[in-house]
Formats: sequence, structure tokens, C-alpha cells
Amino acid sequence: MTEINSVTRLERDGDVALVILNSPPVNALSANVRDGLSEGFKQAIASDAKAIVLICDGRTFIAGADITEFGGAMKGASLPEVQATMENSPKPVVAAIHGTALGGGLEVALCAHYRVAVPTARLGLPEVNLGLLPGAGGTQRLPRIAGVEKALEMMTSGRHAPAKEALAMGLVDEIVEEGKLREGAVGFARKLVAEGKPLVKVRDNNAKLEAAKGHPEIFADFRKANARKFRGFLAPEYNIRCVEAAVNSASFDEGLAVERKLFMELMTGPQSAAQRYYFFAERTAAKIPDVPDDTPLREIKKVGVLGAGTMGGGISMNFANVGIPVTIVEVKQDALERGLTTIRKNYERSRGAKPEETEARMSRLTGSLELEALADCDLIIEAVFERMDIKKDVFTRLDKIAKPGAILASNTSYLNVDEIASVTSRPQDVIGLHFFSPANVMKLLEIIRGEKTAKDVIATSMKLAKQIGKIAVLAGVCPGFIGNRMLSQRQREANKLVLEGAMPWDIDRVLYDFGFPMGPFAMSDLAGLDIGWVKENSKGETLRDVLCEMDRRGQKTGAGFYDYDENRTAKPSPVTEKIINDFIAKSGRNPRKISDEEILERCIFPMINEGVKILEEGKAIRASDIDVVWVNGYGWPVYRGGPMFYGDQIGGPAKVLAKMQEFQGAMGDDFKPSARLEKLAADGGKFADLNK
Ligand code: CAA
Repeated sequence: MTEINSVTRLERDGDVALVILNSPPVNALSANVRDGLSEGFKQAIASDAKAIVLICDGRTFIAGADITEFGGAMKGASLPEVQATMENSPKPVVAAIHGTALGGGLEVALCAHYRVAVPTARLGLPEVNLGLLPGAGGTQRLPRIAGVEKALEMMTSGRHAPAKEALAMGLVDEIVEEGKLREGAVGFARKLVAEGKPLVKVRDNNAKLEAAKGHPEIFADFRKANARKFRGFLAPEYNIRCVEAAVNSASFDEGLAVERKLFMELMTGPQSAAQRYYFFAERTAAKIPDVPDDTPLREIKKVGVLGAGTMGGGISMNFANVGIPVTIVEVKQDALERGLTTIRKNYERSRGAKPEETEARMSRLTGSLELEALADCDLIIEAVFERMDIKKDVFTRLDKIAKPGAILASNTSYLNVDEIASVTSRPQDVIGLHFFSPANVMKLLEIIRGEKTAKDVIATSMKLAKQIGKIAVLAGVCPGFIGNRMLSQRQREANKLVLEGAMPWDIDRVLYDFGFPMGPFAMSDLAGLDIGWVKENSKGETLRDVLCEMDRRGQKTGAGFYDYDENRTAKPSPVTEKIINDFIAKSGRNPRKISDEEILERCIFPMINEGVKILEEGKAIRASDIDVVWVNGYGWPVYRGGPMFYGDQIGGPAKVLAKMQEFQGAMGDDFKPSARLEKLAADGGKFADLNK
């Protein structure tokens, strides 16, 4: 064994040399790893070994470039140098893959002459998710090996293909037994030598590109089919252009030059900066400063859910999906049956649903009309009507029924979790688990820490969130927590703008163009304008009251803020416009022309200001947590990083403060800047400083 450097060693197994990486956690291609590879391969080539295997210790093969190096000066051996050394090796090089071969990791593997993998390995080029494209030849090699269509799909989705699929598309040459990667790869290498197999260089393999030559429609069709998904993002389009270059360039190197140019453009642009920031933001959110990683967890073997409506049903599905049995309690038999039927339909409708899988999941759900059925649950989540008196009643009763140590959670989206906890004899076991609708789909889980919530209850909830595939953010008790508290700022301004002369569709268009999937008024129409509206109390005082009174309750009634045709396509409504104009006339003001810029700034800047207040009050741990909430729960475009990151990108606290002050002068205290914002601006700071 030869130690090459701190993360690389060279070993021998008979006539096969092994270059072995050990750079936890994911063997990312840091300068050290590149240096180790460069030197390791040089020594292996110079030795008397007949073949070389590249293999990694730990949980995974190389999972990509070291993202922490991006944006700074590159040190050490360059990746293209390493790749050329491997590709030009006079002896066969075999990449032995377990865990994930991603991004630069797969690009390195594609410079081996052959690849073997264990059945659980996954391979992909996920750079698109970082606002990038594979910048180490991946855009030129993947279409050569997997074909143009497959390459387009994999590169623009960033999907990780399982080993079996990778084998079928030629990305992997052989699957070896799980747990026996080293033996399998060495055996494979020996066989290559014995059979005198050629040294395959993917770069020279043009057959699959030839098939796409003269067929520009492949790209046009792909762009068209994915236009909605790619809207606003630069990286998918740049990935497509690279594959086009692979097909249309006179040589591999010419295609590579296009890749390099487009890669650099993305790497130095604002979208990738935002998406790289976001990658780490999401991982940082899992870290709670005063709840250590080794906090003992409570065991959650059975979950109880109160309420079989949309929310309760969706919540229950999350647990059934990962094998945790759920007892769902409803008040009435028909509501329970309706809830269970809806869950079944949701399962059956989901893509790739296998009947046996649906049955297995349904078998984990038990319905009951008795609260006592929750007595043996380790976690009970209530998803009943959003009213404090009802919540208190539920928790008073749960306190009597739940077993000692059970976690009692409220799915409230707004209410005071401490007040809810105060009716129990065990406030330390009470926590908020705010799921977003549809709860089986939406990634975000706001976890609300009450004043007395125990640390192991927080740790268990965070871990459970990960288990059910959610991204959890910890928030403190305040009205609306992080997400809805900031949303109410935007909603207030949107409503005010309408009464000043902007039409709902103007506001929606501005926010849609910014990158949100839809604006607030289209959203209200989708959700139903009558949520929380009570006919008997309606006095036609607000636009919503009037619309609901006219039975314009949103998409479901064919009209709301917008008019809808039979395909539910929205059209600006002359009826709504007239109602708005009547409101304005009644107020004695004149409607004014409002610029798109003002609409955007008035919707977004008060949100950022509120974010600062939330941090000031200690209701969020760090600014990046706020961004994670907005990207995952409210459709904030990830290529803009989140409201706090965006605030820095457009000029930082000084700019936001100046605008808030300007609006405050003209329109009053809805725009009152937070003290912390003023201080940040005075100190020349950034919102990112609030991460510390
Ligand atoms: N660079 C630096 N750090 C990385 C990293 C990378 N490429 N990938 C993961 N990490 C870090 C994470 O930040 C995390 O650190 P902490 O424990 O300190 O939070 C740790 O490794 C473990 O990561 P996860 O928590 O994500 O672990 P997981 O098991 O859930 O997932 C993974 C593992 C699938 C590899 C996932 O981390 C992942 O998707 N990583 C990114 C892969 C990627 O995008 N690669 C392409 C990079 S760009 C590129 O390669 C450009 C090019 O063309 C040269």
C-alpha cells in the first residue's frame, strides 16, 4: 500500500492496481482529491500493474465537484488533467461505483474505459439543480454513451439513474454483487486483460450522435415539451445547447469548448450563485444550535392523526408511505370513509402506482371514531379546524388519553402553540408540525418550537421529517410563524394595490414573471375565495365579500377574481374590474397607473423586512432558514435563492431600507422598517450576516 496523500492511497491486488479515495463525507472532488487522483493514476500507470481500478471508501463513489470550492480560485490538479491521464492510460481503467456517482464524479467515471457498479448505485449529472451544467466533459460524453434523448432528459432533470437503468443505457458495463464491489471490479479488470479488450474512450464513440444529426426537431420538441418546467431557469437551456453542440460540432474538442464557455457563464451568473447557496441552506436548516446531533430520540412506531380531511389525509399518507402505521380519527363515519377513499384515489392516481404498493400503504391506515384509539400512538398530530377553542379542547382530551412520552403535535398554520400546550399537563411534549397543502406532496414542514418543547421532541420531529421526505425548518411561536407571517405582508400589499388601480391580473403577472408559479389572486381562485368566509356575516365590505356574495368563489364556481372557461383557463374579468372600480370610486380616490416595479417592490420588500423582524425576535434561527421556507412552501423561484438571499442580490439592507422609508413616507407604517434592518443598513451589512 502506498499513501499518495491524506485522501488517496494506492493498493495492489495481484496484477491490478487500485486507486482508492477516502475523503468523507462524499468523496467530492476537492483540490486534495484531484491531486490524489492525478498522482495515484500516474504511479499506477508507471507500475507493472496490468489494469487499474478506481474505487472509493465510505458511503459513496465521488458525488461531484466540491461545491464549497466554487466561486473561488481553483487550486491543485485540474479535473481535465486528471481525466486525460485516466483516458489516455495505456492499461484498462475501471471505475467501481457504489452509492452515487454524480456530476464531476460521473464525469470522472466516464473517462475510465469501463464502469462496474453495485445494484444500489445511482448515477447522474445533477448540476442543473445547482444552476449549472456538467463542466468536465459530461455534456459531450453522456450523449455519446446514452444517446441524445436520454442525455437531454438526465441532464435537465438532474435525476439519479439506478444501476440497472444505467446498465441498460450503456453507462455501466457490469453490475457486481452488493458488498463485493472491490472483488467484482478487480475480477472484471482481470477479465478485460485476459480477453485483450480494447481501451474504450467514450469521447471517440460517435455512433449515437450520428443518429441525431440532421434532426433539429429532437431539440425543438424537447424544449417545447418542457417549456413550463424550465420557465425562468437558465441552466436547462444551456444543458440542451451543450448536447446540441455535441451533435453539431466537428469534433469532441469543439463541443467541449462550447461546454466550457456556457459553464463559465452559468458559474459566474446570479442563478447558479442562488442555487448553490440554496443547496447548503437546505442542509444547514437541519442543524439546531442548542439541540446536539446526538440528542436521544423518541421512538415513533405508530402515528395518530386527528381529522381525515384534505390535511389529515395528506399528513397520514406521508407516514404510511414509509411503513409507519397510522390511526386516523374522525367524528363521523361518513367523513372518515370519505377521507380514506380520497387517500386511496390519491395513491391510485400517483404516477407509476403499483396496485400492490397501494394496498400495502392502505393497509397501514386504520380509521376510528374514538379518540381512545390513539392511546398507543407515539406521535399524535391534530389537523382539526383552525380555531383556538377547538384546538384547546382537542389537546385537553388528548392529554388524558395519550401515553406518557407521546409527542402531541398541532398542524396549526397560525395559532399560538404555547397557548395550545398550556391546556395539557405536558407542554414539553407539545410541538407544532405545520404541513403545507397538499401535505403528501409539499416538501416543507415548519416545525414550531414552543416555549417548553423538549429538545428530544424537536430532534425527533426533525429526524422524522427527513424520514418522510420533508425539508424541515424550525420556527418559534408567533402569528403565522415564518411563512404565513411573511405571506400576510405580501397579501396586504396585493389587496391595497388593487384598490389603488392595479388589477389582480397585473399583480399576478408581475409575480408570475418574477418566477412564482402563480400570483396571489390566481392562488385564491384555486383555493376557493370562500375559505373562512361566512355568508351570514358578509356585508360586502371587501372585494372578496362581494365576489363570494355573487357566488364567484373561484375556479370551482367557474369565476372568482378571474373568469374561467370550461378548461379552467383564466381570463381577466370585466365583472371584477367593475367591482374594483366601484370600490375605488366609493373611496373618493382616483385610480392611478402603477408600474410593475412598484408592484414587485411593494409585494416583496415588506416581506424581507418582516423576515428581518422574525430573526430579530429569534423566531427563525438564521436568514437562510427563511429562504428554505419560501422556496419549499411558497414557490419562491430557487434561482433567486429566497427572499433574504434575493435582498442581498439586489442591493442588500441599504437598498431595502431606502425603499421601505420611501414607501413609509408616502403610505404610512405598513412599511415601518425594523430596527434590525436599520442597523444592518447603517453598518453596511448584508442579510447574509443574519446567518451567523
Ligand atoms: N461538495 C461539497 N459538499 C458536499 C457535496 C459536494 N458536491 N455533496 C454533499 N456535500 C456535503 C453536504 O453539504 C453535507 O455536509 P454536512 O454534513 O456538513 O451538512 C454532506 O456532504 C452530506 O450530504 P447530504 O446531507 O446531502 O447527504 P445525503 O446522503 O442525503 O446525500 C448526495 C448525498 C446524494 C451526494 C447529496 O449530498 C448530493 O446530491 N450532493 C450534491 C451532488 C452534486 O450536485 N454533484 C454535482 C456537483 S457540481 C459538479 O460536479 C460540476 C462539474 O461538472 C465538475
